[in-house]
Amino acid sequence: MQHDSTYQMHIFRTREELSNYIESQDGRVGFVPTMGALHDGHLQLVAQAKAISDIVVVSVFVNPTQFNNPRDLERYPRDEEGDSKKLESAGCDVVWFPKVDELYPDEVESDFYDLGHLEDVMEGEFRPGHFQGVATIVDRLFQSVNPDVAIFGEKDYQQVAVIKRMTSLKNHPVEIVVSPTKRESSGLAMSSRNMLLEPVFKEAAVAIYQAMNAIRATKDERSVSDSVTMANEAISAAGLRPEYIVIADEDSLEPLEKWENSERPRVFVAAYAGEVRLIDNLSLN
Ligand code: PAF
Repeated sequence: MQHDSTYQMHIFRTREELSNYIESQDGRVGFVPTMGALHDGHLQLVAQAKAISDIVVVSVFVNPTQFNNPRDLERYPRDEEGDSKKLESAGCDVVWFPKVDELYPDEVESDFYDLGHLEDVMEGEFRPGHFQGVATIVDRLFQSVNPDVAIFGEKDYQQVAVIKRMTSLKNHPVEIVVSPTKRESSGLAMSSRNMLLEPVFKEAAVAIYQAMNAIRATKDERSVSDSVTMANEAISAAGLRPEYIVIADEDSLEPLEKWENSERPRVFVAAYAGEVRLIDNLSLN
């Protein structure tokens, strides 16, 4: 990307530096919270933030409270230098690499948010406490950045619902924008976790997208439960281990038993490719 000669990306490590800078600027602040190990999906969020705001802030923080499994946290990919370079060429204005003790000054623990049934279905059911961790960190990041708009990826569809709920519970004056899932040419949804996939599993993981598309293509011929069974078999046959395949209404996120119960059905999948847990979702309309 070509930048004008005055462009300079700022890298901050403390909240004070970040706040001083943001307070000294005029204009709409667009915020993209990330956990780093950035890929083209994140850069699409940055491009979208640039299109609708004057100052683009990206945070890079691997949030400990949203990991259920210490091993998952430990091996989550980290690449500060690579991330800074990518963000600079994407034209980001501010990168913030917060320290754990600034965001968690007391214990490294989540606050409590009433997330209703979002905590009982799909990611909520299989990753207990995960969404409390996400809500806590995004709440604290919003308090520090005070963004006008924040951009999240549709791949984490249920996370977006959680963030919208937290935003309304805490009255954050921020608009939440959702950006479509960016996919590899194979159809595999881009994710920082893809870096951890062995090549054979990276190939096999395409079965998730294919199975979701197969549900969409044949939904007039099959019941909801037969569609789930078909996808389960296809994903398992590819050598992955499905954790859940749920068809739910995309507004309420209530799981469906019959197609007639929703005008906007969406399929949600979590599956292990070797040790790596992948999630994806697709509108079935
Ligand atoms: O989607 C992510 O990368 C994370 O869950 C988020 C929103 C940055 C919170 O840590």
